Amino acid sequence: MRDTSEFDFLIQEKRPAASISSLQAIREFKLLRRYLAPYRPQIFLALFSLVLASSMVLMFGTGLRYLIDQGFIHQSSNQSLLMLGGLLVGVVLLAIGSFGRVYYVSWLGERVATDLRKDVFAHVLTLEVSFYEQIRVGELISRLTTDTSLIQILVGTSVAIAIRNILLLTGGLAMMISISAKLSLYCLAVVPIVIIPIILLGRKVRTHSKVSQDRLADIGGYIDECLNQIRTVQAFTHEPIDRSMFKNYSENAFLAAARRSKARGLMAAIVMILVFSAISIVLWLGTEEVADHYMSVGDLSAFIFYAVVVAGSAGSFSELLGDLQRAGGAAERLMELLALHPSLQSSTYSRALPSHSRGILAMHNVSFAYPSYSDRSVLNKFTLSVAPGENLAIVGPSGAGKSTVFSLLLRFYDPQSGSIYVDGMDIKDVPVQELRERIGVVSQEPALFSTTIYENILYGRPDATEEEVWRAAEVVRLQDFLPILPHGIHTLVGTRGVRLSGGQKQRIAIARAILRDPSILLLDEATNALDAESEQAVQSGLKHLMATRTTLVIAHRLATVLNADRIVVLDQGAIKAVGTHAELISQDGLYRRLALLQFADSLALSEFGN
Ligand SMILES: Nc1ncnc2c1ncn2[C@@H]1O[C@H](COP(=O)(O)OP(=O)(O)OP(=O)(O)O)[C@@H](O)[C@H]1O
Ligand SMILES: [Mg+2]
Repeated sequence: MRDTSEFDFLIQEKRPAASISSLQAIREFKLLRRYLAPYRPQIFLALFSLVLASSMVLMFGTGLRYLIDQGFIHQSSNQSLLMLGGLLVGVVLLAIGSFGRVYYVSWLGERVATDLRKDVFAHVLTLEVSFYEQIRVGELISRLTTDTSLIQILVGTSVAIAIRNILLLTGGLAMMISISAKLSLYCLAVVPIVIIPIILLGRKVRTHSKVSQDRLADIGGYIDECLNQIRTVQAFTHEPIDRSMFKNYSENAFLAAARRSKARGLMAAIVMILVFSAISIVLWLGTEEVADHYMSVGDLSAFIFYAVVVAGSAGSFSELLGDLQRAGGAAERLMELLALHPSLQSSTYSRALPSHSRGILAMHNVSFAYPSYSDRSVLNKFTLSVAPGENLAIVGPSGAGKSTVFSLLLRFYDPQSGSIYVDGMDIKDVPVQELRERIGVVSQEPALFSTTIYENILYGRPDATEEEVWRAAEVVRLQDFLPILPHGIHTLVGTRGVRLSGGQKQRIAIARAILRDPSILLLDEATNALDAESEQAVQSGLKHLMATRTTLVIAHRLATVLNADRIVVLDQGAIKAVGTHAELISQDGLYRRLALLQFADSLALSEFGN
């Protein structure tokens, strides 16, 4: 069994900080290397475009310098026209570079995010049921969407901006120095004065951003839970409470966002003051140089141009650092998710089930406690064998462990001790898919998908023919209610089947299980929502199907199990009695008590013979 602590990162209360240090972030990007590897040509094109666009921006300053000096000052119009032409060519190249940069870089980002999302989803599908009991599924959805989007933004935007800025920064600096080393030195002197406040404020903005994101996640979680239970909310007229709770969540999110905006605004203001003061000072120093003929007006213009470019790229690094850390955190969480291995499949797949399934079942000395409450035993040395074709019923009080038996047969969990055999093989030794292919199950809460009735039945065996689907539908008497539905079998059932009645849902769930044509059929309260008449109709339909396969039926309504070959009475995880209805009635036990309660006033009383 898996240890809860493994999922810590998905359990909201224990969630680690959303962002991690930059150094850590860089380490996490090993993941990205794997996902970028197949796209070498696109990476090359993206890099090429980046270099092209950045060099054109840098060339622009030089063009400016010559245009001003040669064209405006010396007024040689031929040369200045040539320069203009050159500039325009540069602009076209810049446009081409910009297109490539935006297109290929975004393309890479989307591609990586898509591949990653597919992989993570395929992976989480393999994780066992107990994993999903311990995490918040909402968190997992956010992993799949938000975290992959963060990586998409990182690859598709941030990395490109970073590379572009590094190019502009180094190129711009080189140009500045080549124009005037002295002015460059002055500029370098003011760099710390500008950078330090940006870094400090940037950190503050990031903390506020993280808080703001967490508050938004709270809102999402609340909406999800509330709207999924809308019937309960409305039936209990809980709306005013939900409204005010939601108001709190929203207002908290707003306050967090407002604080972040304030910090950002402050940062923008300070950056403006610092950068423009610095530029003004440099400009002032520069005009002295021009006046003293150490440099031309064109030189000064180009110098200022480069200084602005350099300042701009340096300034955006603090924001990039934030993106990097957030994406690093996302990459880390996705890696953790990908690193989780389904603990149930640890056994070796050395053997396959016999190709012909006879539907033999046996559970030997099985003791089991759910992973989430590991000190409370649910099944106690449970031993039972079921012959092929047998129709066995399990009855017993609520919480006795009946559904748990089904979960163990489907190998949703492994028992702590004891063994389970299907067709003579220990189920731990066979591939879990092979095991489940032999089982058709109708769970206690019929689970329908938001599609048509037809598709919901087809779910049992996607390669079944239309005729087979109809045959399964007839067994459970769907024809009784199909005509009243707007599109018959092609009617949409709504989310989880909300547009159908409880009994209709159950019949579809049974049809799905029998379409699978399993050798073992597990019915957990599969007909409890049907009226007695419909139940009998469905049961007579199932009768010939049940004759050729092993069927386990859980029921509270004893009328459902009167005709079972054997009835197992389960109480507190242990078998209290086994026998036919007649045998159990004759014993003075739990079954007789239950039967008396249920049949006392009915005609069935006469069947008891007392
Ligand atoms: N996923 C789970 N995690 C932890 N405990 C569980 C889980 N599912 C069931 N239990 C506990 O195991 C015990 C047996 O549950 P089970 O669902 O097997 O009962 P049942 O006999 O099917 O009852 P009912 O007739 O009400 O469906 C109960 O005490 C229940 O609280
Ligand atoms: Mg149950």
